[in-house]
Amino acid sequence: MTIDAETAWMALLRARAAWRGGSPPAPVEIADPTGGALALSPDGTWQASGCAVQADAAALLETYLPVLRPDLVIGQLGQSLDGRIATRTGHSHYVTGPDSLVHLHRLRALVDAVVVGAGTVLADDPRLTVRHCPGANPLRVVLDPRRRLTGVHRVFSDGAAPTLVIGATDGVAPGQALSATLPVEAGEDGFAPARILALLADRGARRVLVEGGGVTVSRFLAAGALDVLHVAIAPMLIGSGRQGISLPPIDRLDQALRPSVRRVPLGEDMLYALSFR
Ligand SMILES: NC(=O)c1ccc[n+]([C@@H]2O[C@H](COP(=O)([O-])OP(=O)(O)OC[C@H]3O[C@@H](n4cnc5c(N)ncnc54)[C@H](OP(=O)(O)O)[C@@H]3O)[C@@H](O)[C@H]2O)c1
Repeated sequence: MTIDAETAWMALLRARAAWRGGSPPAPVEIADPTGGALALSPDGTWQASGCAVQADAAALLETYLPVLRPDLVIGQLGQSLDGRIATRTGHSHYVTGPDSLVHLHRLRALVDAVVVGAGTVLADDPRLTVRHCPGANPLRVVLDPRRRLTGVHRVFSDGAAPTLVIGATDGVAPGQALSATLPVEAGEDGFAPARILALLADRGARRVLVEGGGVTVSRFLAAGALDVLHVAIAPMLIGSGRQGISLPPIDRLDQALRPSVRRVPLGEDMLYALSFR
């Protein structure tokens, strides 16, 4: 047996399904009749015995196995060299290239829930489904504290996957969406990310992708709620517009975040896979 990229991806999807719920995850093994086997371990390592692994298959395993850690919270942004995720009007299709789009869909396919802010739904009308790779659609979660979104947006009307709207006051969710309510504590900008994650865990969604936009990902990062952050950087200078990461100011560089990093080429773009723990 030779492990190609398709087989590696199927093994990752099998691990995603196996490594859920409260019980300690066990290694996932794919074997063939000739005695070859590929074993994926929940600690993020993999091993092939009696078979060859193609280079692109190995790259997939290296990039996506760490995303399958139990209870992982991962943020993602696709940005220009100067840190912008869209123009000032909100135009963002597309900052990054086709390989980065496939990467985003792979992340969606590996998580239980994908979270976006109201600004992204207003600007992009995204579907948040898995279309550029095999895999199931995650629960779609929209943070809309002021309940300003209406049923015209596709996540609320296309029926492709369940959508949960989280508001700061009780209310009926738009279209076919489900509704939940969280408090905004005095002096806070919005919902505490830990409360959002606890609400999702209660609904069985423990592996979570915070997909955007910049405000939403930055709030999770500032709260220390991201285990991993994937930033895909396109060789483009926008020069103005919507900011990707924006954190409270610091005075000294020794206060800057310095996560461990893996670099993964995505066509013309470069993915920085940052790990905070
Ligand atoms: N390149 C990429 O990777 C990427 C990904 C996604 C989106 N985008 C682009 O990013 C732009 C939108 O990003 P954005 O930063 O302006 O907005 P955003 O993050 O999509 O949405 C921000 C809004 O969501 C709500 N929100 C977010 N976090 C919250 C929390 N913890 N608690 C309560 N409410 C919360 C707030 O709504 P209220 O204002 O009602 O309080 C907040 O103002 C669009 O142009 C889109 O095209 C790019």
